[in-house]
Amino acid sequence: MSSGPKYFKTSGHLLVCQGPNCQARGSVLLYKALWKHLETASLAYYKTGGSIRLSESGCLGSCSYGPSLCVYRQTPQGLEEGWFAGVDFPQATRLAQAVHDGSALPDQGKYGP
Ligand code: FES
Repeated sequence: MSSGPKYFKTSGHLLVCQGPNCQARGSVLLYKALWKHLETASLAYYKTGGSIRLSESGCLGSCSYGPSLCVYRQTPQGLEEGWFAGVDFPQATRLAQAVHDGSALPDQGKYGP
């Protein structure tokens, strides 16, 4: 039996920028509120059986348009990435729910590929 770290299978990974420009636009509170929401809604990947990973990230490169958030998830077509600017709490919860449900990512604030 392995004594290594436990692996949690997830639906996807959300990263919320904590670079200085996004923090000036509220990303600290956004991250905390989203984390609390994931736990309350049983979407967080640990403890409650949810499937969403959430991490703070460094600068995502869209500093003038933050708070910035990116999403990575596996789909039948391969690895999908979604990039979002000007993210508020309601939008972040919709993105998390879409990842959990395996549905299309909402378009609001989307940029890039
Ligand atoms: S500080 Fe958030 S994208 Fe650069």
